Amino acid sequence: MSVPVLKSPSSLLSRVIVLIVLAHFSLPLLFAQARPNAKDLLRQMTLEEKVAQLSQIPGFPVPEFVQQAGQPEDVVRKYGAGSVLWVSDPKEINRWQHIAVDESRLHIPILFGLDVIHGYHTIFPAPIAMASSWDPKMVEAAQTVAAREARAAGIAWTFGPMLDIARDARWGRMVEGAGEDPYLGAAMARAQVLGFQGTQPGDLDRVLACAKHFAGYGAADGGRDYDSSYIPEEQMWNTYLPPFKAAADAGVATFMSAYMDLNDVPATGNRWLLRDVLRDAWNYKGFVVSDALAVHSLITHGYARDGQDAASKAFTAGLNMDMASGTYMKYLAAEVQQKRVSTQQIDDAVLPILEAKIRLGLFEHPYIDESRIPQVLNAPEHLELARTAVQRSVVLLRNEQNLLPLEKTGKIKSIAVIGPLADAQLDLLGMWGAMVKPGPTVSILEGIKNKVGNTVQVEFAHGPNIRRDIPSFFENVPIVPIKEQPQQSPEQARKATNDAVALAQRSDLAVLVLGEIALMSGEAASRSSLKLSGGQEELLEAVVAIGKPVVLVLVNGRPLDITWASDHVPAILETWYSGSQAGNGIADILFGDANPAGHLPVSWPRNSATLPLYYNHTRTHAPEDAPDFTSRYWDVSSTPLYPFGYGLSYTTFSFENLKLSQAAAKVGSSLDVSVDVINTGSRAGDAVVQLYIHQQAGSASRPVRQLKGFQRVNLQAGAKQTVHFKLGPDELQFWSPATKQWVVEPEQFDVWVGENSQAKLHADFRLTQ
Ligand code: BGC
Repeated sequence: MSVPVLKSPSSLLSRVIVLIVLAHFSLPLLFAQARPNAKDLLRQMTLEEKVAQLSQIPGFPVPEFVQQAGQPEDVVRKYGAGSVLWVSDPKEINRWQHIAVDESRLHIPILFGLDVIHGYHTIFPAPIAMASSWDPKMVEAAQTVAAREARAAGIAWTFGPMLDIARDARWGRMVEGAGEDPYLGAAMARAQVLGFQGTQPGDLDRVLACAKHFAGYGAADGGRDYDSSYIPEEQMWNTYLPPFKAAADAGVATFMSAYMDLNDVPATGNRWLLRDVLRDAWNYKGFVVSDALAVHSLITHGYARDGQDAASKAFTAGLNMDMASGTYMKYLAAEVQQKRVSTQQIDDAVLPILEAKIRLGLFEHPYIDESRIPQVLNAPEHLELARTAVQRSVVLLRNEQNLLPLEKTGKIKSIAVIGPLADAQLDLLGMWGAMVKPGPTVSILEGIKNKVGNTVQVEFAHGPNIRRDIPSFFENVPIVPIKEQPQQSPEQARKATNDAVALAQRSDLAVLVLGEIALMSGEAASRSSLKLSGGQEELLEAVVAIGKPVVLVLVNGRPLDITWASDHVPAILETWYSGSQAGNGIADILFGDANPAGHLPVSWPRNSATLPLYYNHTRTHAPEDAPDFTSRYWDVSSTPLYPFGYGLSYTTFSFENLKLSQAAAKVGSSLDVSVDVINTGSRAGDAVVQLYIHQQAGSASRPVRQLKGFQRVNLQAGAKQTVHFKLGPDELQFWSPATKQWVVEPEQFDVWVGENSQAKLHADFRLTQ
């Protein structure tokens, strides 16, 4: 657009006119545009501009193989860009956005994407921790805050929620999801999508969500990150896909295709996933982005011959946007010119990207007001919610003789806070939390000190440093601020252990904070053993040997091998990576200002050799509930150390009076299940009431138990509440490998209700034709 110029304005009036005219023509360009119609916009676009919308440009240095059609900023200037990845400095965001909006021909704003997985500035507990809360409303509220902070800083698209079902704790990315269960996973998926996106198009406090990694990434062979997954179709439908379906139904704006081969076809070029399931079976209308560089990786997989073939295979499989590999930019236009891809196909792929930008209000509000950012990021209510989220997420695994909660005034006059994670800050945020723009973190040591003030003497000993045996490649990535703890000589490590033991010796009680630094969990962080590494087990055993009371606080991204501790340490608290308010929230639990009610979203294995491990397996020829059953191994019990759904409280609950509305119901109808939950202890607390079913026979073997309902209810001491669940076609159906479709079968069903997947309170009913 050219701006008219008045020649030699001499009078004041003519100067004013010039300013008004200039403002009239240039303001819309400099600050905002009207909301366009996506189809009109599409009609004006050249093929190159369309391909640019199908591309996410890396906002950081990339490996050499990344194909660029020039310098990233020049590309934006010339063609625009669908998205820019990992530019997170608000000033930079505004600068890039000005290039796109002011300088590119069609002024289409950029969608800035970042992994705001559990917070942007206020970091909430990691997803596995939030799933442990069994509190979707809290999770939705947390992601609402994450969205508000990210959007204020210019991020309009997050690459979450991560919805991969994880049945193998060796896999490092278990921490990023909701654990092993499709029903809990679906509930967490919905909550997170609603939290990130809200329901009002154009809401400037929300971001687009992205359901990732589609699909089956958690089933990597041997729990080895990026390794192939082999998943039969019935497991895909019944176990791995339900959280993704829930996200799609909740209106998730985008999907991300996974890195790995699924049944020998890389997910990013997998037509069955991206078309047959997502578009055809689910009628999904949003857009799909690849995982980072994954279009190019189709060549590495040995699936595509070259870049041209990779672009062709990803695009025709149904992938809209190439994340940062430059393959679409370089090769996709040629596919059209050579008539292997039609203009219509390109338009169909671009349209949902333009629509997403319109829905976000990006055309009217492309820039951010940098002056507003501090006020949004530092809102006190964000920190308060983060603290509540910690309280609601930690899981009390063991509490012999009610060692917890501790008293602030009483017999305990001195506490030794020990361990390589006790004074950690960034490591409490997990990898993604540390990589965004985290505010200050309250360490566990600091949280305990804050809590007891001067009434108890609190001293700290670090113990030996912990490191990965094989360093993480993320340590060398400039945008990753977390580092391993420094290497120590054996003498230094021994001295650190001895100092810690000596401190425990002269204290009344020890709190040991052990587990995994952030780089030990997450992407590229699989492990073969779940043991406490780097001398931590020895430290724990040495401190326990003194005979003082010991509380073990675990900081980690996956269940660890705590078999010894589960017999010898009186109190064990699983806190995962609990974010900015970790220390305060954990101290609230330790000292009884909050009552723990987190429950495990995964079965807790005894050791890594028993993996994969999950509660919802089929019954088999030698069922575990048979009277003569011992173990499937001769050297270790094959049951979990703690079952799925397990978690203790400072109070106790009983479950009584399980009732079904009918003993028999017709296929297609619903039953009401009710149960009385009573707080039988002496303090208020939350019960997580869980409902499990089992179909006794049918066209396929069905899992011994499947979670089909849960509610977290708060009960005063002595109080009773009747909790209701609905069991209808959605809960009773499954995808049958015999008929290759969803079925509800006229069979006998068991129902159990209780506080974990081994609940005993039982009833049954029959479905009839
Ligand atoms: C991860 C994704 C992430 C992407 C962008 C990839 O390495 O697998 O989960 O969203 O990077 O940061």
